[in-house]
Amino acid sequence: MWRVAGTTLLLAATPLLCLAALGALGFLTAAPALPAALVCLMASFVVAQLWHRDLARLTGVLRAPAMPAAGHWPVIPALGRIASDIQRLARGLAARAVETDTARRASEAIIERLPDPLLLLGPDRAPSRSNAAAHAAFGEEMAAVLRHPGLRTAIDRAFTSGRAQTADLTLPVPVAREVQATVIPLDPRLPDGTAALLVLSDRTRERAVERTRSDFVTNASHELRTPLASLIGFIETLRGPAADDLPAQRRFLGIMAEQAARMHRLIDDLLSLSRIELNEHLPPGERVDVVDLARSVVAGFEPRLAERRVTLRLDLADDLPLVAGDADQLAQVLTNLIDNAMKYGGERGEIRLAVARPDGTRWPVRPGVVIAVADQGPGIARAHLPRLTERFYRVDKARSRGAGGTGLGLAIVKHIVNRHRGQLAIDSEEGKGSMFSVWLPAETEPPRGAIVET
Ligand SMILES: Nc1ncnc2c1ncn2[C@@H]1O[C@H](COP(=O)(O)OP(=O)(O)OP(=O)(O)O)[C@@H](O)[C@H]1O
Ligand SMILES: [Mg+2]
Repeated sequence: MWRVAGTTLLLAATPLLCLAALGALGFLTAAPALPAALVCLMASFVVAQLWHRDLARLTGVLRAPAMPAAGHWPVIPALGRIASDIQRLARGLAARAVETDTARRASEAIIERLPDPLLLLGPDRAPSRSNAAAHAAFGEEMAAVLRHPGLRTAIDRAFTSGRAQTADLTLPVPVAREVQATVIPLDPRLPDGTAALLVLSDRTRERAVERTRSDFVTNASHELRTPLASLIGFIETLRGPAADDLPAQRRFLGIMAEQAARMHRLIDDLLSLSRIELNEHLPPGERVDVVDLARSVVAGFEPRLAERRVTLRLDLADDLPLVAGDADQLAQVLTNLIDNAMKYGGERGEIRLAVARPDGTRWPVRPGVVIAVADQGPGIARAHLPRLTERFYRVDKARSRGAGGTGLGLAIVKHIVNRHRGQLAIDSEEGKGSMFSVWLPAETEPPRGAIVET
């Protein structure tokens, strides 16, 4: 009210002063001057009230621009225009706020769902947030990862240089892991203060594959180089010092034939290993009677058994289910296991080959067949057992090589068993012999006389 009165006086002041001046100079008498002053005051009052009501309405529009302003809209045209400008500005700001919120939520979702572990680092270089992959990969160990000196150095360097830095970390506990950390500084910083991103990629599997591949190439070339060097040596001897020595030539040619056969065997084994690996994801489709197969494989060993005076005891169960398999590959499994039992089981020993239904709890509950090859040889120390199926792994290199072994036999067995979706178990104790068992799933034949949908 006082403000309206003040504004009224302010508006009316100039005309009232003019009227007073005219009166004082004698140009105007009191009779017309007084009603004129009254009209002037009343008009000023109306304008002042209008002005203040519109200002209040404008404030209302400013406070709640989205509210419908019917009946509360300034009537003074200039103030009306300002009110509609305010409304347009507010609508624009609201749209921007929605966009910003959507963008923030989208970036949070991206960070959260990234498959690589990701952490956001604040200006103090400490992590402010981490995504689900980081929790899944490191969980409780995250604090230990962040304390790793290699990672700390990379973070410090990234913050001081402003450029991305990487560091290879080896985490020894609880299981050895190799992690590549990348620190990416952000310029400008994110609105929430995030100053850098830290990506942790688990490279353990890749490094292991790389190592296996390079070990494989090294081993394969080494295995080939040894007999090749011996062949070259003998050829030189035959051309030179032993050129006229017939008995020496015969002896050397015998050794050379052996070395060449060894190289041949190695290449055959490598090729069959790579063929098996190529098809490992395709389960075999033949129906194989393992008992028949075992009989025919054993028949092929007869001459060698006689030569080494080894007894092979067969223990073949009746009424075993057929297995879905590849007969040639399963024959290879039997051959490699019996071959090992003969090579390492000692002369004049006994080998037992059993084909039976699975018993005990070690095998899956599904129907299947177990093939077991046991010998009475020196056995294998526990430390070697997990590595036996690695390519070129031999417990006693000299002995195995002497027996013509390339160290690929059990690797081939493992891959064939994998392809058959089976399982391989090795039981051995030093001095008590070894037993290699293979479980193969039975073929799931549709029941006869039933309706089968295809
Ligand atoms: N029945 C066994 N008794 C004792 N040691 C064994 C037996 N079977 C395998 N081994 C050990 O496991 C190693 C790996 O066997 P694997 O069959 O893969 O290779 P290899 O017999 O040396 O060569 P290859 O089978 O390729 O001719 C052998 O070198 C041997 O040291
Ligand atoms: Mg072998």
